[in-house]
Amino acid sequence: MIGWITPELKSRILERVDLVALIGRRLKLRPVGANYQALCPFHVEKTASFHVSPTRQTYHCFGCNAHGNAIDFLIEYDRLSFPEAIEELAQLAGVELPLAHQAAAPAPDLAPLYQVLEQAAALYYQQVRQPQAVAYLRQRGLTGEMALAFGIGYAPPGWNFLLEQLGNSPQQRQLLIDAGLVVERDQHTYDRFRDRIMFPIRNRRGQVVAFGGRVLGNDEPKYLNSPQTPVFHKGQALYGLFEAQRHNRYLQRIVVVEGYLDVIALAQFGVHYAVATLGTATTAEHIKLLQRVAGEIVFCFDGDQAGQQAAWKALRTALPVTDSKHPLRFLLLPEKQDPDSVVRSEGGAAFVERVEQAQLLSDFLFDQLTARYPPTSTEHQARLSAEARKLIDQIPDLEYQRFLHQRLAKLLELDEPFATKPRPPTPQPINTHLTPPQRIIALLLSQPPLAAALLDQPATWRTLDQPDIPLLADLLSVIADNPEMTTAQLVEYWRHQPAADRMRRLANPALIAHIPASGRDSECLGALQALNREAEKLQRWQRLRSATPEQLFNKN
Ligand code: UTP
Ligand code: MN
Repeated sequence: MIGWITPELKSRILERVDLVALIGRRLKLRPVGANYQALCPFHVEKTASFHVSPTRQTYHCFGCNAHGNAIDFLIEYDRLSFPEAIEELAQLAGVELPLAHQAAAPAPDLAPLYQVLEQAAALYYQQVRQPQAVAYLRQRGLTGEMALAFGIGYAPPGWNFLLEQLGNSPQQRQLLIDAGLVVERDQHTYDRFRDRIMFPIRNRRGQVVAFGGRVLGNDEPKYLNSPQTPVFHKGQALYGLFEAQRHNRYLQRIVVVEGYLDVIALAQFGVHYAVATLGTATTAEHIKLLQRVAGEIVFCFDGDQAGQQAAWKALRTALPVTDSKHPLRFLLLPEKQDPDSVVRSEGGAAFVERVEQAQLLSDFLFDQLTARYPPTSTEHQARLSAEARKLIDQIPDLEYQRFLHQRLAKLLELDEPFATKPRPPTPQPINTHLTPPQRIIALLLSQPPLAAALLDQPATWRTLDQPDIPLLADLLSVIADNPEMTTAQLVEYWRHQPAADRMRRLANPALIAHIPASGRDSECLGALQALNREAEKLQRWQRLRSATPEQLFNKN
């Protein structure tokens, strides 16, 4: 958990990240004059109306009116929450974040847990040179290089290997228990993993959080995994993700497989972008995480009955979180095969070929639906239609939904496709009518240096009792204190404040697009002077109203 993020901290982070680079890693940007353009990722379009400004550090789409700064972009495009976006950017910027101060229960210090897990991984790795471990890895065709890359280890037989090495105090023993490495039962403690090949599971930062352990023979259970611990949550962890990202920070594609050894075998044959769920079905959490780190996600399953069912289940899990920006594919391997066996018999290139031919979610969906409900009669057509709509309507990306509905209509030979659901939020119409204070705010947000001329003017306008006057006053003082701030940083200042929405709206460059660049300084100054005249008139009027007859006579 990160702590309270002050406006200053946000500003410091935004100062150090470059929006053009950030977006450039996700979209194809084309330089046009001083700005960059791309096809808008937030609506479907054929000509680029998405603009990124390096000076303002903001983006804006003239088509759908999406706009914001780096934080907004990560929230909208990477689907991060605000704290996640801050964390991601802080990491890019190399800025330390404060940790949350927890009021009631202090957060347990996880550092000792990570440390003992790391120590265990090192000890297991030392043991992998034992003859029976070497023999097993060899028999599975694993190279020493892969053992090193994935930190594959061996837990020797016996009940006390870790306990003897790392458990020499009650606190240390408790730590081993908390880390899931040692089991406590009836006042006895013993090592959880014995005589097993050990696969360390790392989190995205590369810290060991758990282990999977495989027996050398055919005993049951074949795999034993760490239990859930404060640092390990099964439904979120993905084996191999850290290793894949270490190999390539910006992944085009991720292949999701079922087993540890599938991930490792694929890497050995050059497919460095496989991850495995940990003995659980794919969760929506997994998919959301993968959408953040890769463009395309390919689910890989055994082609047998169980594999087909798992694939269908994955599809159903994916629908509520899928979008057209992160195509999902389904790769069904020949029966009784897994990626490990396929890549070893066919080689890496052939596997990649299979991946590239894998069925897109849309094709898989329609194939499965028509297989389940062949539209051979009116009744079957109705059934297919009902089932298909139930699934399609779960997709939040409405543009994507629309095309699936069209395809369904074509399949059923309907004249009209079903309407998408839920209805898209109507884009906020841009109300370009601005009050004078709003016009000044919009101009200042777009070009903060315009503030200099305003700060030289009398401040009578501040006495006006009008909406947005206090906001303008605040904005001017923030710019006066921080003349280097970009549009992105200024707007950020107000996030989570009562005026946040107004500020965001006024930062929309479309609002002032009709004012030519050369006329903006006089427009801004003129608007402020008009406000001053209005304020002076009002003050004169109030003086008149409260004046005594003598004062009135003496004045004139
Ligand atoms: P599989 O049984 O398909 O094994 O389990 P595999 O990966 O092909 O294993 P090898 O090739 O025989 O070594 C796939 C995954 O399911 C989880 C593990 O994560 C495993 O990698 N699993 C399997 C368990 O957690 N427990 C088990 O008993 C079996
Ligand atoms: Mn296998």
